[in-house]
Amino acid sequence: ALHQHPQHLRLSSDGPFGKFDKAQLQRGFQVYKEVCSACHSLSLVSFRDLHALGYEEPEIKAIADQWQVQVPSINPETGEASSRKAVPSDRFPSPYANEIAARAANNNALPPDLSLITKSREGGASYVHALLTGYRNQSPELLKEHPDAKTPPGLHYNPWFANLNIAMPPPLTAEGQVTFADGTKGTVDQMATDVAAFLVWTAEPKLESRHAAGLAVVVFLLIASILGYLAYRQIWYEAK
Ligand code: HEM
Repeated sequence: ALHQHPQHLRLSSDGPFGKFDKAQLQRGFQVYKEVCSACHSLSLVSFRDLHALGYEEPEIKAIADQWQVQVPSINPETGEASSRKAVPSDRFPSPYANEIAARAANNNALPPDLSLITKSREGGASYVHALLTGYRNQSPELLKEHPDAKTPPGLHYNPWFANLNIAMPPPLTAEGQVTFADGTKGTVDQMATDVAAFLVWTAEPKLESRHAAGLAVVVFLLIASILGYLAYRQIWYEAK
């Protein structure tokens, strides 16, 4: 079972004509906000970018208001780093003050920024979906044969993770963990699919205009080729 590929996750953004499903992106954002953001930042995405998902200014302000961002100054009274409420121009911050604090809370592992994760990991959205739904118990036969392969305490067995033992505890465990605003049933698979779709958007928010530009280029080249051929026929029609 080594080096299996994750099952391909079909998304509406796939293929040269692919478009984002905004309702799905909103659900995926809800999963990020309610679950993943407890550990992961989106340092390349600002709150106001949510406009592209269909959120309006007042909603975006209200969303930003639920996050704290650090400011690069020390409170002179207490000596502590200061923070303020986020505003729409801020990026989705890490919940940790710094790397040391992040590692201290995660068995010495660092939750990676998720902005580009669907680009940086082989398999992209399919990998993210497989990882989120792939936690399981180790096979007892295998453990009998290789007792040293037992997942160490503090880590979690996940065959999709490169070294099989991941510091991230299973983040999506129960149906209904997220109550979707649009009434979609929050099964684990649905939550994992929607958050993977959302992370395709964070990694490439301009995917739709890239697809549209590509299509326009192909149509232009086709017309130019036909015109070129007809012009050639016109110029040489007397020659035999
Ligand atoms: C790693 C996604 C929630 C802690 C990762 C990775 C992904 C991911 C894609 C990278 C795996 C790799 O390196 O290939 C998500 C998503 C979440 C979520 C989509 C929400 C559904 C959480 C939560 C925590 C957490 C709530 C903290 C309790 C971590 C840690 C790592 C990690 C510590 C690094 C693991 C390691 O290197 O061993 N996550 N995560 N994640 N995540 Fe999450």
